[in-house]
Amino acid sequence: MLEFDYTNVLDSSVGAHGISQSAFEMAAKSTHLMVDALESARTGGMLGFADLPFDEKPAKAVTTFARNHAFPNVLVLGIGGSALGPLALDAALARPNTGKRLIVLDNIDPDFIRDTLDAISPEDTIVNIIAKSGVTAETMATFAIVREWMTAALGPTKARAHFVVTTDPEKGDLLNIARLEKYPIFEIPSNVGGRYSVLTPVGTLPAALLGFNVEALMEGARRTAIQSRRGFQENPSLVAAFIQFVLDRERKKNILVLFPYSQSLWKFAFWFKQLWGESTGKKSDRQGHEVNYGQTPTAALGVTDQHSQLQLFIEGPNDKSFLFWAVREFRNSLKLKHPYSSFDSMGYLQNRTVAELFDAERRATEMAITEADRPNATVYADRVNEESLGDLIMFSQYMTAYAGEFYDINAFDQPGVEYGKKLTFAMMGRLGFEKFNTTIEATQRRERAFVR
Ligand code: PA5
Repeated sequence: MLEFDYTNVLDSSVGAHGISQSAFEMAAKSTHLMVDALESARTGGMLGFADLPFDEKPAKAVTTFARNHAFPNVLVLGIGGSALGPLALDAALARPNTGKRLIVLDNIDPDFIRDTLDAISPEDTIVNIIAKSGVTAETMATFAIVREWMTAALGPTKARAHFVVTTDPEKGDLLNIARLEKYPIFEIPSNVGGRYSVLTPVGTLPAALLGFNVEALMEGARRTAIQSRRGFQENPSLVAAFIQFVLDRERKKNILVLFPYSQSLWKFAFWFKQLWGESTGKKSDRQGHEVNYGQTPTAALGVTDQHSQLQLFIEGPNDKSFLFWAVREFRNSLKLKHPYSSFDSMGYLQNRTVAELFDAERRATEMAITEADRPNATVYADRVNEESLGDLIMFSQYMTAYAGEFYDINAFDQPGVEYGKKLTFAMMGRLGFEKFNTTIEATQRRERAFVR
């Protein structure tokens, strides 16, 4: 079960940079309105992500599909919310020597695409094309390259059996293509947006193909979804959202450092970055007032970044809030029998474990950051497995949805991302996007400032 420790956010820990106990008491009284708002959105079918773990059918369908499609390589073509979830699950749950490998083409650097394809064999690969909109330029372009690569190697009939599509059930050209090609189709429910879709087949199909336990993932997500509907004092996602909102708006901590002390959770931090950044970064609030809200998420890895970014975190500007992600039990502890224990600088390690050292370093970092009056909180997972990943995912998604309530913004749209996509379509000459040409031409006419 996930635990959230916010001791070091209190003003008793970090002085004026923190939040008073009385502010928490007030929030406990007033936030039931937010719980009610999300609950009525959920029962009204508007909070799709929250209901996903309660529907057993899609999880069963991906597991059955995976059983009948056992390939060593799972090649995902997707970007943003259609790539970061599979990457986070794989980084957390993959084990060596299983004979399974996830490869994600989420960038269209042509050298990256060529080198990736040159390193794998088409026969050993199942390709999962993922796009909620079904039209994203990057994914459609990569699809063309990969289809040609597969067809050249296997011929059109055999190649077809290596593709599976995950997309919206009602719209988008990827859906039309999948129907034409007779590719199997998995659905992203219409009420689940890209960055909230990891518990749909966007995440669960690659997970099942890689041999992960999708039912256990859903079990963790289910219990945290139930917990996230409770009142303030029993609801870690709500408390976490309240803290970031106050720290951002009232204490000017407009950077959120995601700091996992777990190599396995490193990609999870990148998944969270998209979720938090795209959801809180908004020009207007729900009333249409221009607010330009948003807390910039960034990531640091424990212990690696202790020797890189920590100096800045402790002595640089006090403009950051820290969210540690800690694991209580690792799969290995690694006992130290040091060959040079007679040296003082090695002796203290003798008969200790690497897990103990890791834990001590995390606590030392937390202490140093707190002593420097930098507010920080810690999310504890018992261990890294499917169930706890389910907990962490649901906690994060509810936290983000509650943040939308505190900021009074739409935490589910991404007009900035959509605008960038439209400019790309226009630049590449896609029909129907000509109205953006004036903006593009004006930008191109602007004199460039170069230095050589
Ligand atoms: O959160 C979002 O909706 C976006 O960031 C999308 O995930 C991203 O743009 C990819 O979109 P699609 O799944 O339609 O290819």
